Amino acid sequence: MRTYRFHVVITPQRNIVSRTWGTSVGRKSVMAVTGVIFLLFVIAHMLGNLKIFFGITAFDEYSEHLRTLGAEIFGYSGVLWILRVVLLASVVLHMWAAISLWYRAKRARPVGYQHRPSWQGSYAARTMRWGGVIIALFVVWHILDLTTGTVNPAPAGSGAYEKLVASFDRPVVAIFYILAMLALGLHIRHGLWSALQTFGANSALKQNALKTLAFVVAAVITVGFVIIPVSVMTGLVR
Ligand code: HEM
Repeated sequence: MRTYRFHVVITPQRNIVSRTWGTSVGRKSVMAVTGVIFLLFVIAHMLGNLKIFFGITAFDEYSEHLRTLGAEIFGYSGVLWILRVVLLASVVLHMWAAISLWYRAKRARPVGYQHRPSWQGSYAARTMRWGGVIIALFVVWHILDLTTGTVNPAPAGSGAYEKLVASFDRPVVAIFYILAMLALGLHIRHGLWSALQTFGANSALKQNALKTLAFVVAAVITVGFVIIPVSVMTGLVR
């Protein structure tokens, strides 16, 4: 009697997450989606911060509102914590995708382009990398300053308005904020433009319109943020 042997080859079925993460387009999409989540937060935060021009009560109420939002369902600060987790996950994924794409490009082309000075092609990429690092450092300082109050000179128990004014009363800190906001503006301009390309802007006309859109969004956000430390420094907000 004959015996037959069968070899069954099982190809691992890769799920959508590993398939997306495995390709450069997938990683760029991860960057685009997490970047847009962060952008929406930044726009909402910038608009909320402008309440500073409506006085101490309006601003402190806005800060308190962030904590009481949806409290009936999620409890005090519940929505804020959900937002924090989503933002943190977005930042981690965004940076992870950026680093892995950079590493992959470096491995694929270890000696650089022959026909083009290296500063030319990599200028935007380098600005994005350094911009990203400055923004990340800024956010750490910013949370220690205005959320936990660890590095803020206002007396313990001060409200959001008092902490903000006390913070920008230090010129070095105000200038650091302004520079970080300029880095943020540049990062948003190039990042939004790249994200729009990832999602497919092909005709030259569309490209120009989207480039202008990215510039306008970045400029509005930068001015909306910068105006606050400038107003405290010039005494408009006290
Ligand atoms: C001049 C510019 C800015 C001002 C005046 C400002 C103001 C504030 C204030 C007052 C808070 C505390 C809110 C509260 O706890 O009640 C805060 C928190 C925060 N801000 Fe900003 N912000 C600025 C720019 C930014 C930017 C550009 C980012 C992001 C890139 C950012 C990210 C955050 C984050 C993540 C928190 C912590 C939220 C939390 O976990 O409670 N801020 N900001």
